Amino acid sequence: MYKYDQYDHQMLQDRIAQFRDQTRRFLAGELSDAQFLPLRLQNGLYIQRYAPMFRIAIPYGCLSTRQLRRLARLARDYDKGYGHFSTRQNMQMNWPKLEQVPDMLAELAEVEMHSIQTSGNCVRNTTTDQFAGVSPHEVEDSRPWCEIIRQWSTFHPEFSHLPRKFKIAVCGTEHDQAATQVHDIGLYIVKDEQGELGFKVLVGGGLGRTPVIGQVIREFLPWQHLLSYLDAILRIYNQEGRRDNKFKARIKILVKELGAQRFGEKVEAEWLYGKDGPATLTQAEVDRCKSFFTEPAYETLDDHDAAVATLSSSDLLFAHWLERNVEAHKRPGYRIVTLCLKATGSAPGDLSSEQMEFVADLADRYSFNELRVTHEQNLVLTDVRLKDLPELYRALQTQLLATPYTGFLNDIIACPGGDYCSLANAKSLPVAEAIQRRFDSFERLQEIGDMTLNISGC
Ligand code: HEM
Ligand code: SF4
Repeated sequence: MYKYDQYDHQMLQDRIAQFRDQTRRFLAGELSDAQFLPLRLQNGLYIQRYAPMFRIAIPYGCLSTRQLRRLARLARDYDKGYGHFSTRQNMQMNWPKLEQVPDMLAELAEVEMHSIQTSGNCVRNTTTDQFAGVSPHEVEDSRPWCEIIRQWSTFHPEFSHLPRKFKIAVCGTEHDQAATQVHDIGLYIVKDEQGELGFKVLVGGGLGRTPVIGQVIREFLPWQHLLSYLDAILRIYNQEGRRDNKFKARIKILVKELGAQRFGEKVEAEWLYGKDGPATLTQAEVDRCKSFFTEPAYETLDDHDAAVATLSSSDLLFAHWLERNVEAHKRPGYRIVTLCLKATGSAPGDLSSEQMEFVADLADRYSFNELRVTHEQNLVLTDVRLKDLPELYRALQTQLLATPYTGFLNDIIACPGGDYCSLANAKSLPVAEAIQRRFDSFERLQEIGDMTLNISGC
């Protein structure tokens, strides 16, 4: 995982002091709602139906157990004892008190976390495949590239006031699990005929009321030029994206109006100003970022375990769990385990403080102290020994975390909707629950087959 240096720590401390003062002035009536709005948004704070909603960044979904325990503590001490994992691999808390948010930020900073750029019209949390670095079907680990983009986009002075929010996804695996095509910029890690690494660049994808699949504007961008090319795309968007109408302000509308080819030509022309300039990535910089994502101390293991095979033939529920929630790993004798947060009756993506602490203990015991958040609002233990699966399964069962529904209809992605969000015109959570209850049977779900269902309240 990326480790903060002195500059990162200092940056967070400065930011907290700044926001503490802004909050104080707002509460004292010295700042108006309109003045406070952009300040709170850039710190992850929305004013929702009942309370401010506070969004915490989990860069590309990577979380240490120390961080998860801190989230559990924040949910318990400042909220109602639970948190909500979102589709951008972040965490949201729905009931904090505005005056306590600066204290929450200070507690987060102690474990190298923050909520910078989790809302507002800026580059948001870059997302990626939850199996990055452990998938057997990978072109290259996407996490170092996400970290490079994170550092580039954080407080980027030119792109802090874009026409609208901006979302980037990076995919390094053959099977895209990062919904890369429905992002403002989608980057596929690819290799050319000489084996050189680069990116296939898509722009203008998105969801919401105008769902669009992104279009390719460059088949192969050599890795050295990643940041200068991103600069060029964002510059064109920043200059030409619409600011008169919020609903027409995303880059997908601009790309649609200009056409992908024309948009691509503009980007290429703009790129000539920055190409080979200071934003060019060096091997040393890439190596520095890669050094944070080295492999854990894997053991040399057999890729077969008799006890697991026996249990899966005698225990049908365990067999179902293996089939749906356990995936192959690049190392023999290891497996990737998804914790499906979709038990019938619980809101998709919600986890109580007790469950968070329980999961942190499991990740410490079975998966090298780290875990991942998925854009489907589940959690993943990336490095579980095959022989530990039965023990892990039994432990997960005790906390309703072994629901074997990953990738089925009941693995619903749902926003908080009308229960919390002031923009909603429908409640998504009760709809999700009704569907989950209706289809709560492995056999029925298997009959339906793989199916994704996304529910939004607006
Ligand atoms: C043009 C207006 C907007 C549209 C059409 C829109 C649409 C969407 C869509 C389609 C998603 C993904 C839902 C999913 O697939 O799970 C989403 C995520 C989200 N949006 Fe927006 N959104 C809009 C503006 C906003 C605003 C202004 C807010 C805050 C007040 C907001 C808060 C959220 C949250 C919290 C999520 C993440 C939900 C989750 O993952 O749990 N959205 N939005
Ligand atoms: S109701 Fe709409 S705006 Fe509100 S959280 Fe859901 S998707 Fe987002």
